[in-house]
Amino acid sequence: MAAGLGTRMKSRRAKVLHELGGAPLIAHVVRTAQALDPRTILVVVGHQAQEVEQAVLAEVGELASFAIQAKQRGTGDAVESARSQLEHSDSLVLVLSGDVPLIKLETLRKFIEHHYSAAADCSILSVRLENPTGYGRIIRDESGAFQKIVEQRDATEEQRQVREINSGIYCFDSGQLFRALSKVEPANDQGEYYLTDVAEIILRNGGGVNVFLHHDAREVSGINTRAELAEFENLIRRAAIRKLMIDSGVTFIDPSHAYISAEAEIGRDTIIYPNVTIEGKTIIGEGCVIRSGARITNSRLGDAVTIKDHSIIVDSQIESSCAVGPFAHLRMNAVLEEKATVGNFVEVKKSRLKRGTKAMHLSYLGDATIGERTNIGAGTITCNYDGKHKHETIIEDDVKVGSDTMLVAPVRVGARSMTGAGSVVTKDVPPDSLVAGVPAKVKKKLSRG
Ligand code: UD1
Ligand code: CA
Repeated sequence: MAAGLGTRMKSRRAKVLHELGGAPLIAHVVRTAQALDPRTILVVVGHQAQEVEQAVLAEVGELASFAIQAKQRGTGDAVESARSQLEHSDSLVLVLSGDVPLIKLETLRKFIEHHYSAAADCSILSVRLENPTGYGRIIRDESGAFQKIVEQRDATEEQRQVREINSGIYCFDSGQLFRALSKVEPANDQGEYYLTDVAEIILRNGGGVNVFLHHDAREVSGINTRAELAEFENLIRRAAIRKLMIDSGVTFIDPSHAYISAEAEIGRDTIIYPNVTIEGKTIIGEGCVIRSGARITNSRLGDAVTIKDHSIIVDSQIESSCAVGPFAHLRMNAVLEEKATVGNFVEVKKSRLKRGTKAMHLSYLGDATIGERTNIGAGTITCNYDGKHKHETIIEDDVKVGSDTMLVAPVRVGARSMTGAGSVVTKDVPPDSLVAGVPAKVKKKLSRG
C-alpha cells in the first residue's frame, strides 16, 4: 500500500517517495518483498502515482504491477483497488505498508511460515511498544484470543492501555480477504475503510485469525512524520558506521558526525574526520584519510588516498596514493591515476590525469586527457566549450603547462613541451617545444633530456 499522501509529513511529496538511507521508502519495502520470491508485487498507488511507479520499477522491474487507488479512502479501500488482480488468484497475499521500510526478510519468512503452519485465513504481525500512541491496538479476550484491531482514535481509554499494536503487515488467503473486504464499512472516526476490520470479519465468519507477536519493535515502526524519518535515518547511519568500525577497522574521529551510506565499503585504517558525507555505492580503500567537509558520492578510491577538507567527489575514480583538495571538485567520471595530485580550487570534469600528474592550484580541467608526470600550472583553464559544443584537450606526458594558460579546445599539447605564463593556446603544440603569447606561438625547440 503506497497510495497515501502521508498528511503528517506536511509535504507536497507522497510519503513513500521521501528518502531513507538514500532510497525512497517504497524502494526499501519492494526490495524486501522481492527477496521473498513472490509471484508478483502489486503496489497500490495514488498520490504521485507515476513517480511512485518509477521508484518501484527502478528497484524490482518486471516483478511489479500496479493498482490505482484514485481517492484514498483508507487501507481497506487500498486493498479493494487490487481486487480484480488478486481476488481469484487463489494465493497467499502478504500485505505490506509503503511506510514501514525496515522490516526484515527473516521476519517476513517466519511470519509466513507461521501463517501456513497455523492454517490461518488471516495472520497479523504484532509487536509490543513502550509507547503505542498512534497505532492500532490488538484487542484480545480474557483467554488471550484475538478479537479485533482498534485504531487509536476509535479506542476507549481502556483499549489505549494495550501495548500490543498492529504492525500493518498481514497474510491473507486471497479468497477470504476479498470476501471479508466487501463487508467493511467506514464506521469509524475518520470515515475510512479500514483493512484492520477484515480480521474481525473473517473471525466472525468462522475463519481462523492468527497473531504473530514479533520481538523487534523498531523493525515494524511506521514512518509518519519527518521527526520519525530523521530518527530512522540516524539509526541506519549509526548501524552503518558501527559496522565499519567493528568489522572493517575504519577510524571515525567523531562517529556521531559522519554521514555514511549503508552501501559504502571502506578499507581498514582509513580515517574519517567529522562532517564527512559518503553517499551511494562508494568504495574507499585502506589507509585513506578523509578530512572534514568532504562529500564523496558513487565514487571509488584506492589505498592511501588523502582527501583534504571540503572537497566534492562525484561519480569519479581516484587510484592509490593520490591527494585531492582542499576545496577540489571532481565530477562526471574524473579519473586520477596513481600518485596524481589535485590541489586547492581545482575542478576536474570528465577528465583523466595519468600517473604522477599534478594540478595544484585554481584550475578547470574539463574533457581533458592529461599524460604522466605533467604539471598543470596555477590558473590553467581548458576552454572546452565554444557556446555550442564541448571539445577535448589532450596534454601528453611530461608537459609543463605555465601558470594561467588557456587551452582553447580542441587542442593537443605534445610530450615534454612547455607553455609560457599567460599563453592562450589555440593550435596544437608539437612535442619538445616552448610556446608563449596570445595566441601562443612556438618560441623554441627544447632539447630532449
Ligand atoms: C495503519 C493501521 C494501524 C497500524 C499502522 C501500522 C489501518 C486502519 N490502520 O495505520 O492499525 O497500527 O498502520 O503502521 O490500517 N494507504 C493507502 N491508501 C489509503 C490509506 C493508506 O495506500 O487510502 C497506505 C499509505 O500510503 C501507507 C499505508 O497504507 O503506506 C498505511 O497508511 P497510514 O495512513 O499510514 O496508516 P496508519 O494510520 O499508520
Ligand atoms: Ca503509517
